[in-house]
Amino acid sequence: MRELRDKARSLLDPVIRDFYEGGADSETALAENERAFARLALLPRILAGAGQASTAVRLLGADLDTPVLVAPTAFHRLAHPDGEVATARAAAAAGTVLIASMAATTAVAEVTAAARDVRPDAQVWFQLYLQPEPEVTAELVRRAEAAGCTALVVTADSPVFGRHGRDERNGFHDLPPGYAAENMRDLPGTPPGGTRPIAMSPALSWADLRRLRELTRLPVVLKGVLHPADAARAADEGLAAVVVSNHGGRQLDAAPATVEALPAVVAAIAGRIPVLLDGGVRTGSDVVTALALGATAVAVGRPVLWGLAAEGEDGVARVLRTLREQTAHVLTLCGARDRADLAPDQVVARGIREV
Ligand code: FNR
Repeated sequence: MRELRDKARSLLDPVIRDFYEGGADSETALAENERAFARLALLPRILAGAGQASTAVRLLGADLDTPVLVAPTAFHRLAHPDGEVATARAAAAAGTVLIASMAATTAVAEVTAAARDVRPDAQVWFQLYLQPEPEVTAELVRRAEAAGCTALVVTADSPVFGRHGRDERNGFHDLPPGYAAENMRDLPGTPPGGTRPIAMSPALSWADLRRLRELTRLPVVLKGVLHPADAARAADEGLAAVVVSNHGGRQLDAAPATVEALPAVVAAIAGRIPVLLDGGVRTGSDVVTALALGATAVAVGRPVLWGLAAEGEDGVARVLRTLREQTAHVLTLCGARDRADLAPDQVVARGIREV
């Protein structure tokens, strides 16, 4: 992973690299996501007779080969000319879910077609920012459905854009000429062939989410959940799953590391719906730590961008394969066959508390 990260760093234009790597404000949440995993250790169980580990997981009715999903990230064609098509092909081949970003540089129908070309039952979920104009949201949902997406992922941690100091310093505010947010093309209110900017609104509420659910029969996943009361409400409202996320440290900089927010969310959900997590997952140990704390699966954002920038489809495939292999290896070392054999008491804080 480090090798791909270094290669991506050396190949990417520094402005694009900063856009991918950066976080909000002083980048505390960004750094804490990784640091919090590093502060945790795993207590293995021995002589458990667990046998060969399995990374398979069933999620929203689909059988996946790995509990590591691809988180939605914007603008993949800035990382590699094959862009989202390469990511979709690698995710499908890895037997995992691609959460396609609304801010993609490839239209969602092309993304799902690329995934299905590799594997007819490939799972692509569509990430959505609810738009202030209901007819714009409705058209995006219609397109995601027509493209064959099997779930919608509503990102709810962005009532305003985060302040990204690196982008401000670099003057990176828009896509360079020749690229567009293709899902935003030809929406209500745009001139023919034009694209709309993605809007964020602090006026959005649970009522808007309810209206969305009336528009679609697709399962709706809520992304950006950190408070246990919001997690409980998501389950009460009939959402399909939640993603514990601080947007990779790109929104509220004072947000806690996601792995630190996870246990309270898991307790509030009490097994009613799956809990996913993203933010700072870089190794199989991180994956197993999240699973032991009650996550059903995790997602990775930046590692996929590193793989894509470094080696295109093959690089994304390598990232997903490495994480799956490491996860299986760590499960075995922990005495677990799969997630069901893990327990929260296997996750402990590093450091000597008593001597
Ligand atoms: C993101 N993320 C994001 N989330 C989302 O819901 N819609 C989006 O368009 C984007 N775009 C985006 C761009 C870039 C460059 C990054 C790094 C992140 C957040 C993403 O889905 C996820 O929450 C984090 O990336 C997870 O953290 P790690 O794995 O990057 O540490």
